[in-house]
Amino acid sequence: MVTGTSGPEWGRLSAEIRGCTLCELHRTRTQAVVYRGGSSPRVVFVGEAPGAEEDRRGEPFVGRSGRRLDEGIAQVGLGPSDFGIVNVLKCRPPKNVFSPTSAVTCHPYLDRQLALLQPDLVVPLGAHALRSLDPAASRITDVAGAPRTAGRWTLFPMLHPAATFRSRQNLARWEHDLLALRSILGGG
Ligand code: URA
Repeated sequence: MVTGTSGPEWGRLSAEIRGCTLCELHRTRTQAVVYRGGSSPRVVFVGEAPGAEEDRRGEPFVGRSGRRLDEGIAQVGLGPSDFGIVNVLKCRPPKNVFSPTSAVTCHPYLDRQLALLQPDLVVPLGAHALRSLDPAASRITDVAGAPRTAGRWTLFPMLHPAATFRSRQNLARWEHDLLALRSILGGG
C-alpha cells in the first residue's frame, strides 16, 4: 500500500467519496469535500462538516473558520506539506446541522483516509470530530489541549475554530491550546 495522497489508493478513495450516495446528504450537496493539505502530513486536523463555502469550492476549511485554522496552523510552526485537513462528514448538511446518522455512514471514509495518511498526530476540532474518533471521550472542553490515545491514533483535541468567534474565553482557550500543540510538535 502506498501511503499518503500520491498513490492509487488515495485516488480511488477520493473518487469513491466524490461519487458517494450512501446517505441523504448527497441529494443537497454541490460536491463532496475530500481533503486539503500535504501528500504525507505529520498532523491531520479533523473538522465536522463542509459549510457553504466549502461546498461551493470543494475544499475543507476555506471560509472564516478556515482562516482561523490556517492562522493557528502557521502559529504552531507547520508548513504547507506538514498538515492535512479532512472532515467527519464529506458533504454539507442542510442548514449546517451536523447529522450523527450520516457520520456513522461516513465514518469508514475517515478511517481509510487516516490509514492512508498515517499522521503522527490527529487533531479533532470540536465535539463531533472528537466523538467520531473517540466515542468514550468526555466533553471537548474537558479534554481539549492534552494528548490522548484512541485506537491507533494519538489525538490532540481542540475547540472547533468557529467556537473562537463565539466568546473571548473560547478564543483564549484556542490560543492556549495552540501553544501546547506547538510544544508537542517540537516548536518550543
Ligand atoms: N467547519 C468544518 O468543520 N469543516 C469545514 O470544512 C468548514 C467549517
